[in-house]
Amino acid sequence: MEKSFVMMKPDAVARRLMGKILTRFEEKGLQLKAIKLMTISEDLAKEHYGEHSEKPFFNDLVDYIISGPVLAMVIEGDDAISLIRKMVGATNPQEAELGTIRGDYGIQTGRNIIHASDAPESAEREIGLFFNEDEIVDYDMVDNTWIYEEL
Ligand code: GTP
Ligand code: MG
Repeated sequence: MEKSFVMMKPDAVARRLMGKILTRFEEKGLQLKAIKLMTISEDLAKEHYGEHSEKPFFNDLVDYIISGPVLAMVIEGDDAISLIRKMVGATNPQEAELGTIRGDYGIQTGRNIIHASDAPESAEREIGLFFNEDEIVDYDMVDNTWIYEEL
């Protein structure tokens, strides 16, 4: 099983989309391992999105991410990182397929609803930035034998 860091951005929280989006991950068969509603500091936002620090949109991105609370999560499943990126859709919601989270709920790149890790190394780094080890909960899902042929 693989863990991904997923974060509903301030627009998702403000627009009361948290329940609907979380339901998509639950219904898919993924497992929630950690969840936290939090307002993130400018320093954490800059560190999280450090790879974009030289981009022209960096300041707007940081302002957006710190503009209100976010819902930070660790979500686990088989090949969860690429699976969740597929569920999230393209960065620009105009280009995201309908049926994806950004395709269904967003219109502009600067208000694109949700973040998800793009690779195992970024998932590990991002989980470490947002969660302590004791906030990640280990528990069994009784329906896993109906989601996975082999565990
Ligand atoms: P994340 O999951 O949030 O990392 O998005 P991504 O991996 O699909 O895209 P990327 O890492 O390239 O960009 C990070 C975030 O920066 C995007 O999700 C947008 O919120 C924001 N962003 C990217 N490009 C632009 C842009 O051209 N304009 C603005 N305003 N924001 C942008
Ligand atoms: Mg990214």
